[in-house]
Amino acid sequence: MSVIIWLVIAYVLGSIPFGLFIAKTLCKIDPREDGSKNTGATNVARLCGTKFGVATLVLDLSKGFVPVFMASSWIESDFGLSLILMAAIFGHAFSCFMEFKGGKAVATTIGAFLAISPWGTIFSSLLCLVTIAISGHVSMGSLTLALSLPVFMFLTGNFAFIPAAMIVMLLLFWRHKENIYRLARGEENPWLKPKV
Ligand code: G3P
Repeated sequence: MSVIIWLVIAYVLGSIPFGLFIAKTLCKIDPREDGSKNTGATNVARLCGTKFGVATLVLDLSKGFVPVFMASSWIESDFGLSLILMAAIFGHAFSCFMEFKGGKAVATTIGAFLAISPWGTIFSSLLCLVTIAISGHVSMGSLTLALSLPVFMFLTGNFAFIPAAMIVMLLLFWRHKENIYRLARGEENPWLKPKV
């Protein structure tokens, strides 16, 4: 299969709004209207409870991992795989099922990069978890993950994926701009109890 077909598959899979679906159908809350108004695992956990957040996390991670992992058996070009990886991540952030709006794409980023650089992604995710544990803010961990991904791509020898990691870093920072303002003002939402 050609890169174009995988791009479409990755984008459509990445676009599936699992968090919105889980929150609306299983706990009757629209996460776009409450908490941080994000459809990701953190806000679903905040509004609906941890188990719903974990389900969202696993599904959002899978929709990044599955298309990139499958495509890697067909596509040999690292550039082609970089595009497919970004298609899944941008699908989450600009979903064709949500009028091209979407989430912050952290879980989908982890899943997509896990498929091409397991160790780099695991190290980056561990740093993310440590940051969350120390700061108490998921967004701080997400920003650390975004910053550290290109570094770990370099340190693990995945040089071909550094440009994609840098583009995704910019996307994640852009998507977290409101979190960054709140962090700067000391008003960021705690994990479970939203202020806004
Ligand atoms: O992955 C999203 C996280 O970094 C922030 O989520 O809901 O607190 O804006 P939230």
